[in-house]
Amino acid sequence: MHDTIYATRPELYDAIYSFKDYPAEVVRLAALLGQLGIRPGSRLLEAACGTGGHLAHLQHIYDVAGFDLNAGMVGIAATKVPQSRVFTADMTSFKIREPVDALLCLFSSIGYLPDLAAVRAAASAFAFAAAVRPGGALVVEPWLAPADWVNDRPFMTLHDKPDLRIARVNTSAQDGEHSVMDMHWLVARKGHAVEHFVEHHRLWLCPRETMRQAFEEAGFTTRFEPDGLLKDRGLFIGHRR
Ligand SMILES: C[S@@+](CC[C@H](N)C(=O)[O-])C[C@H]1O[C@@H](n2cnc3c(N)ncnc32)[C@H](O)[C@@H]1O
Repeated sequence: MHDTIYATRPELYDAIYSFKDYPAEVVRLAALLGQLGIRPGSRLLEAACGTGGHLAHLQHIYDVAGFDLNAGMVGIAATKVPQSRVFTADMTSFKIREPVDALLCLFSSIGYLPDLAAVRAAASAFAFAAAVRPGGALVVEPWLAPADWVNDRPFMTLHDKPDLRIARVNTSAQDGEHSVMDMHWLVARKGHAVEHFVEHHRLWLCPRETMRQAFEEAGFTTRFEPDGLLKDRGLFIGHRR
C-alpha cells in the first residue's frame, strides 16, 4: 500500500480513473439509499473516499463527510467538498462524534484489508457498526470474489491529454487468497522527463458469503446485490439493527 499512487502520487488518481462515471454511480446509489429509507439531506459518511469522486456529487443530495487512509487523497477530496469534513483515518479504527444515517465504502477499497480479522475490525462496533445509527444503512462495493479472478491476463489503461499522457499496464497474478497486480506506469507530464515506476497492489479475494457474514455479525442485516455500480463487483447492502 505504501508504494501505491494513493500514497505517492495522488495527483494521478483522477487522470487514470477518468473513465469512471461517478455522476451515474451516484444516481444509482441515491436510488438504492432511497429504497433503504435514506432521504435527501441525510448524513452520509464515505470510508476510503479517495479523491472524493463520489462525495463531489453526493454533496448535492446529502450532508456528507469522508475519510481515507492517505492524506494526499484526502487533500484532493477536500478541494471538491469544501463545505464538508474530510479527514485521514483507517477504516479499521476510525472514530466519529455522532453516528450517521448511512456509511458507504466504494470501488473495492475494502479489498485492501488483508484478511478476515481486518474485515471484521472494519465492520465492528469499533468502526462501521459504531458509525451508523440503528435503522441506518451500509453500502459496500467489494473487490472481486475468488471465482471472478482470472490469472495471467494482460491489462492496459491509458490517459491521453495534451499535458499529461499515461500508459499503465499489468498482468493479473495470485498469491494464495490474494490477487496481485504490479502496475507499470509510464507518465509524460509537460515540463518533466518521462517517468517510469511500478506500484504493487495486493487485494484479498474474500468469498462473498464470508464478507456478508462479517457485516451480519457486526450488527448489519446484510444482503448481496449483484447489480451494483461496476460489472462483477456488486454491492453489500446492510441495515443497522
Ligand atoms: C480504489 S481507491 C477508491 C477511492 C474512492 N472510493 C473512489 O471510488 O474513487 C481505494 C482507496 O482506499 C483507500 N484505503 C485503502 N485502505 C484503507 C484503509 N484501511 N482505511 C481507509 N482507506 C483505505 C486508499 O487510500 C484509496 O484511496
